[in-house]
Amino acid sequence: MENIFNEKIKLTPLLVLKDIKKTFGNTTALKGVFLRAFEGKAMGVLGENGAGKSTLMNILSGVIQRTSGDLYWKGIHKNSFRNVKEAEHLGISIIHQEIACFNDMNVLDNIYAGHEVGRFGFVNYKKEKKMIKEVFKLLKLEVDLNEIMSNLTIAEQQMVEIAKSILRKSKLIIFDEPTSSLSKKEAESLFEIISKLKSEGIAICYISHKLEEIPIVCDFITVIRDGEYIGEYTVNELTEDELISKMVGREVVEKYPQKDNPSYNQVILKVEDLTNDFVKNINFDLYKDEILGFSGLVGAQRTELFKSLVGFFPKIAGRVLLNGEEISLNSVGSSIKKGIYYVTEDRKNDGLFLDETIRKNISISCLNSISNLGFVNLNKEKKLSNHFIGIMSVKTSSGENTVGSMSGGNQQKVLLAKAFAAEPKVIIFDEPTRGVDVGSRREIYDLIYEAKRNGIGVIVISSDLPEVLGLCNRVVVMKNGRITNKLKGEQLSPEEIIKYAI
Ligand SMILES: Nc1ncnc2c1ncn2[C@@H]1O[C@H](COP(=O)(O)OP(=O)(O)OP(=O)(O)O)[C@@H](O)[C@H]1O
Ligand SMILES: [Mg+2]
Repeated sequence: MENIFNEKIKLTPLLVLKDIKKTFGNTTALKGVFLRAFEGKAMGVLGENGAGKSTLMNILSGVIQRTSGDLYWKGIHKNSFRNVKEAEHLGISIIHQEIACFNDMNVLDNIYAGHEVGRFGFVNYKKEKKMIKEVFKLLKLEVDLNEIMSNLTIAEQQMVEIAKSILRKSKLIIFDEPTSSLSKKEAESLFEIISKLKSEGIAICYISHKLEEIPIVCDFITVIRDGEYIGEYTVNELTEDELISKMVGREVVEKYPQKDNPSYNQVILKVEDLTNDFVKNINFDLYKDEILGFSGLVGAQRTELFKSLVGFFPKIAGRVLLNGEEISLNSVGSSIKKGIYYVTEDRKNDGLFLDETIRKNISISCLNSISNLGFVNLNKEKKLSNHFIGIMSVKTSSGENTVGSMSGGNQQKVLLAKAFAAEPKVIIFDEPTRGVDVGSRREIYDLIYEAKRNGIGVIVISSDLPEVLGLCNRVVVMKNGRITNKLKGEQLSPEEIIKYAI
């Protein structure tokens, strides 16, 4: 075999992919990628947004077909995994980037989905339930088998998917950005489970943009860039900076822009005594030349606070003042009209129209400015969308592509473009870099800074402590729907934030 693989790895691979190519219409997503997986080891698959990670994993799990390339399982050449069933039959399963369970099914049916006949080869229903319960116990998963999937948290939904893979006796389990919607604690229990799976001899492929997770989870790393294979490494072989430069093809010097010194003399947004079912007595000022962060643990109700502020949830008491003038916001639409834009943390369910083009997704927030007599001017609309595709380096061949066909991180950029296009006075970013790669994260921070310098009031909600500290001038800490402290200057440290968050 050519030494395209790492010679330091002496193990016999369970899986080898060679020179995999994949085109979608005129997009070439994979230009010849190599990948191996080993029993009891985790292979990190790393690369920027749009590099082709999910595409490769979808090929491996039979969700889509490769255009060309070879696939070996236990040394045997396989023509193709023509569908998910064939891959599952060999023992390959995938926990998808955007969990795709059958939402209105209950847990039990979801586990059986597609396997009604001869479910796992057992005939004894009672015995099956017992098996499921044992696996749940192993995963410390406490959900009722009759519970509807959509009532579960994302972490629980993932655990159900993992349980499903274990019950199917998978030999290779793929995790595509499993921690992007998990709390720190949930992520830690996931790592424990992955390590348990490894000790059972299961091979893992692991995708994440959170590089600090890689040494915890992975033994080896495969880097792809722009659909090209860059190389295979052992996890100790590269420093984080070296890994980053392999991924992005250049040095990323500083993760955060240089902070400005706000003057704190002009309040753009004032919130007084906001109270409802989620939050109590919320008071804060947002100054025009600062970036104000909101930090807290899961259940702190940060998202609920801002959804209440923009009228998504009813308020019981409290006032919102924009530039000194009280405004009443009773729907998301009215808040956008008045100039307050909340950028959702949940782009898939309430941020983007996945079946629509990038152009339409961006223009929908500012149709007035590109319409004549109520009709959208197509040229203006195209110009607008191309403008944002350009300044935000959205990776796409055309604004006419559907958002659903884009990689996760690029969808996030479209979500932000939509907010900027609305030209609001205040933008509230809820987890702005969820699923965004290291290089693009910096681009997004720069855009956030630029918005601030252009006089837009900026609030950032983030569960990522380094992000909130790296980006914000002041940080409001919340716990159980209340503000517990407001930190600035010297007080801005992880310890201080955690002290008031728990
Ligand atoms: N169904 C599809 N139709 C057209 N293009 C697609 C489709 N699926 C993926 N692509 C394109 O293939 C490329 C690779 O996308 P992929 O989702 O594999 O990236 P990724 O590495 O997983 O990125 P991310 O980190 O953002 O999740 C992108 O340019 C994407 O737009
Ligand atoms: Mg992906």
